[in-house]
Amino acid sequence: MSTERIVVGVDVGTTKICTLVGEIGADETIRIIGVGIEPSQGMSKGTVVDVALATEAVRASKRQAERTSGYEIGRAYVSVAGKHIHSVNSRGVTGLSPNRGAVEPDDVERALEAAQAIALPHNREIIHVIPRTFTVDGQENIRNPLGLHAYRLEVEAHIITAAASSLRNLEKCINDAGLEVDRFVLNPLASAESVLTQAERESGVVLIDIGGGTTDIAVVIEGTVWHTAVIEVGGNHITNDIAHVLHLPVSEAERIKIDYGNSRPDTVPTDQIVTIQPFGEDMPTQLLAYDLAQIIEARVDEIFTLVVQELKRSGYDGLLPAGAVLTGGTSALKNIRHNASAILHMPARIAHPEKITGLVDKLKIPQHATGVGLLQFARRLDSGMADSLGTSPRRGRRSGGLAVGDKIGNLLKRLLPDE
Ligand SMILES: Nc1ncnc2c1ncn2[C@@H]1O[C@H](COP(=O)(O)OP(=O)(O)OP(=O)(O)O)[C@@H](O)[C@H]1O
Ligand SMILES: [Mg+2]
Repeated sequence: MSTERIVVGVDVGTTKICTLVGEIGADETIRIIGVGIEPSQGMSKGTVVDVALATEAVRASKRQAERTSGYEIGRAYVSVAGKHIHSVNSRGVTGLSPNRGAVEPDDVERALEAAQAIALPHNREIIHVIPRTFTVDGQENIRNPLGLHAYRLEVEAHIITAAASSLRNLEKCINDAGLEVDRFVLNPLASAESVLTQAERESGVVLIDIGGGTTDIAVVIEGTVWHTAVIEVGGNHITNDIAHVLHLPVSEAERIKIDYGNSRPDTVPTDQIVTIQPFGEDMPTQLLAYDLAQIIEARVDEIFTLVVQELKRSGYDGLLPAGAVLTGGTSALKNIRHNASAILHMPARIAHPEKITGLVDKLKIPQHATGVGLLQFARRLDSGMADSLGTSPRRGRRSGGLAVGDKIGNLLKRLLPDE
């Protein structure tokens, strides 16, 4: 009988579903032994909009991962995103009996329970409770209170909640595809696991996972998650802008975005031509790559402007010396790092998942930061190292929604033919 520890993750993205099976070695390394990547269906902006279609896609991805790994998969860590996600910071306090002495795990658990005792509408559920910092008998900024003598323990926790209906829809797809949900994990928390370095986490960094339907962010400072948000704009919006402005089928717009896309028009040679086949034209026509880049730049800049607004709202915008780490499929867009740097006023790098072995050929690209991160998240909980990443959730509260501006409206108007 084998004694390997197996972890399974299903990244349910807007454009692809990725099921990964990993084997955790004695030295805690993850060897990928099963991979199932399928185009997504029935998803929009990170949430399920058609249960039957999404279930089919999850099932296909699961089967492929089972075939490659030779394992029958029963349970999985599952990624979650979408506008229904909210986060709030909350404090919890607990007293310690004078004859108890040092803080024990039970006491931390009680303080975290207290932090979750916030008004939560019945239609919302807590998915993560992340202890950020502790105060022990008035002494602030304690990272690990275990073993300290105290009468009073306070925790400042980051609590992430989701709409119950969105979670149930996602759970139904997973169940109907033949899997149990081990646990839901917020997209950017999974991605943060796979792409951030220890040095970045310690000094302060914002992770930005720009996918197809959403842009997921996590602010990590002093080793723990201080803020998270899901912005409902991603690479699909860039493709749709191109299709809309140039009267192209979406598949043609996606093709020219991938092959010729650039988010900095000033770097595009002024004579570079892209051949396209618009609707209503008998023959292919030509387009300046510079004009394509203008369309892309507008939407990319809007995404980073929304990230800036979110960072300002969080209040942590001045605490990120390590800058921004971009991942997700859209981070492959040529020059996007420079748009990020200019708008966020911080250094930026592009990252893909690291620290995995086995079937990694297809996985070491930014699209799979979340999928690989799910396995790393699962390993952390499996090893009892839940330190910075949450406990069993109970109840939480709704915080403010994200206002999505539409900075590109003017440019679209300018480029759209008058009809
Ligand atoms: N080379 C490239 N240049 C520009 N965009 C790219 C490139 N490769 C992939 N993309 C875009 O990346 C997006 C898909 O990214 P990803 O796989 O991370 O999304 P997802 O996880 O399915 O969606 P989400 O996380 O938003 O639910 C698509 O919009 C795709 O067009
Ligand atoms: Mg994604």
